[in-house]
Amino acid sequence: MKDLYTEAKNVLPNSYSRYSNFKVAAAIRMKNDAIITGVNVENASYGLSNCAERSALFSLYSLGFRKDDIKEILITTEQDDFISPCGACRQVMRELMPDDAQVHLANNKGEIKTILNKDLLPFAFTEDDL
Ligand code: THU
Repeated sequence: MKDLYTEAKNVLPNSYSRYSNFKVAAAIRMKNDAIITGVNVENASYGLSNCAERSALFSLYSLGFRKDDIKEILITTEQDDFISPCGACRQVMRELMPDDAQVHLANNKGEIKTILNKDLLPFAFTEDDL
């Protein structure tokens, strides 16, 4: 887990968060042990901003990885508190990551809270509902 935290911390300065000044980084471990990272990328048209979790997930899908290739995700910030993924990210994580993937929330001291992806969004709308 320490390596995932280190990788996320390493890319945290890349966060493009000039409007909120709230830096977020995510690191996702694949089953082949590759680690893919992402940061939040904001926009003057605020609603177009992209969260770190989605940046990392979209990167790994762009590289050709898929849901079943993913093992776990860690998300961190510079804050004392643990981050709580936003609703949009929970919906995207539910579709693009396995239900039982672990979601690690790390604070600035490296303390970690872990929950399962499926527990982040109960009664989710999924492809099964279409
Ligand atoms: N943000 C994330 O990147 N991930 C989250 O889980 C919550 C919020 C970003 C969006 C925005 O750039 C900044 O944090 C403040 O909301």
